[in-house]
Amino acid sequence: MSHLTLVSNRLPIRINEEGEVERTTGGLASALAGAGIPGSFTWIGWGGVNEEDIEDREDYEKKLKAVGVKPVILETDEFDAYYEGYSNSTLWPMLHYMKDRARFDPEWMEGYRGVNQKFAEVVAKEADQDGEVWIHDYHLMLVPKMLRKLRPDLKIGFFLHTPWPSSEIIRALPERNEILEGLLGCDVIGFHTYNYLRHFRSCLLRILGIEGESEGLWHGDRMVRMGVYPIGHNSIGFQEAMQSDTYREALALHKKRLDGGKLILSVERLDYTKGVPEKLDAIREFLKKNPEQRSQVNFVIIAVPSRVGVEEYNLLAETVQREVGAINGDYGEVGHSPVQFLHRGFPMEELAAFYALAEVCMVTPIIDGMNLVAKEYIDCKRKKYDARAGVLILSEFAGAAQEMSHSLLINPHDTQGVVKAMEQALAMSEDEMWSRVRAMQDRLARNDAGAWARHFLGDLDASGTPEHDPAAH
Ligand code: F6P
Repeated sequence: MSHLTLVSNRLPIRINEEGEVERTTGGLASALAGAGIPGSFTWIGWGGVNEEDIEDREDYEKKLKAVGVKPVILETDEFDAYYEGYSNSTLWPMLHYMKDRARFDPEWMEGYRGVNQKFAEVVAKEADQDGEVWIHDYHLMLVPKMLRKLRPDLKIGFFLHTPWPSSEIIRALPERNEILEGLLGCDVIGFHTYNYLRHFRSCLLRILGIEGESEGLWHGDRMVRMGVYPIGHNSIGFQEAMQSDTYREALALHKKRLDGGKLILSVERLDYTKGVPEKLDAIREFLKKNPEQRSQVNFVIIAVPSRVGVEEYNLLAETVQREVGAINGDYGEVGHSPVQFLHRGFPMEELAAFYALAEVCMVTPIIDGMNLVAKEYIDCKRKKYDARAGVLILSEFAGAAQEMSHSLLINPHDTQGVVKAMEQALAMSEDEMWSRVRAMQDRLARNDAGAWARHFLGDLDASGTPEHDPAAH
């Protein structure tokens, strides 16, 4: 396999305020970190700070280069239009079926185009001759076509970490043709589920009039392959985390604090796709219906602040905080609040301790490309690390639901259904919990982040255009 270049909006590391290199959180960074990609590779992306905030650019680039990373440095104005604007105020809601939340501004698209071009130019300069490039996510959907123009020798792969919605949604996007054409610059395009791939194919047909064949499609004189590659979690990373002192200490501390009470855990970025208000509706209903449980349950909601420059996210944080306060006001007692809202991220070791202790984990997004929390929770249920038995309540609208049939599947809009699942989970015997956990662990072990990366990169390596007669297509 030739030298690989990974490309994503956010780099897996950043330089912190003390000037040290530290890891960033997030599903993509965590999964790729645990993927154990063979051979050397360079990672190109945005480092979390803009040009105006970098004091010494040379020093900044040098520190990142030492760990195999090349930053794309953006000005604040272009970052705002590209990331907060087009990526997260237009594309993100559209890709999640939330057309009414999407806002359209031609200047944002200008910014998106400009930044995608900048990424393509940095990659074109860095990538080896005949090398392989793996581009990630919706921020960079124009890069494949731009890059192919600059470097036709490269093999280009793209993986989408979100859902790809029905063509009825994508048709409403003013720049739909340009986005689809951008992606067709690839040799391989990957999705989490078969449904997302099916919708993508139907967009190509209905918007561009291009029909695929079973192995892919002909675009000009090139073959573009498409496939389903469900991402796995960083299993090795969590196993290591569970052997650490931090894990043991956190486990002991939280066990003591819970004092025999039940832990019903949620972990998510605070994003409107994650269904936090709907989950709070179900929690309120559960507490209303089950007064004897009020002093026993601890609904711990870990909500990692996200995209704080986008208005919708700030409004959501206010709504959630207000409702948490209201539920505790109605159902709390002296010395005990049933809902504990932790508005911050936790290191992997502490997260693993929460997963290990929780009798129930509620992963209830309105829609989610995959959701790695569901997989991490089940993987951390290991007796050898003193984990307790537990049960996963999982939204049927998360990509993970297709692989995790031994969870309690719910529709997050059906409040009574979610309450029933909570009651069933809390009444479940430990034996049944363990047998469900084991059934899912077997599958997770075969499909972790490493297997996902090997599968995609193997297909990228094998891709290429077979001999053909273009006139026949
Ligand atoms: O789910 C899509 C995704 O891009 C993930 O890959 C990533 O971990 C997450 O969103 C975080 O987003 P951001 O970089 O905007 O904080």
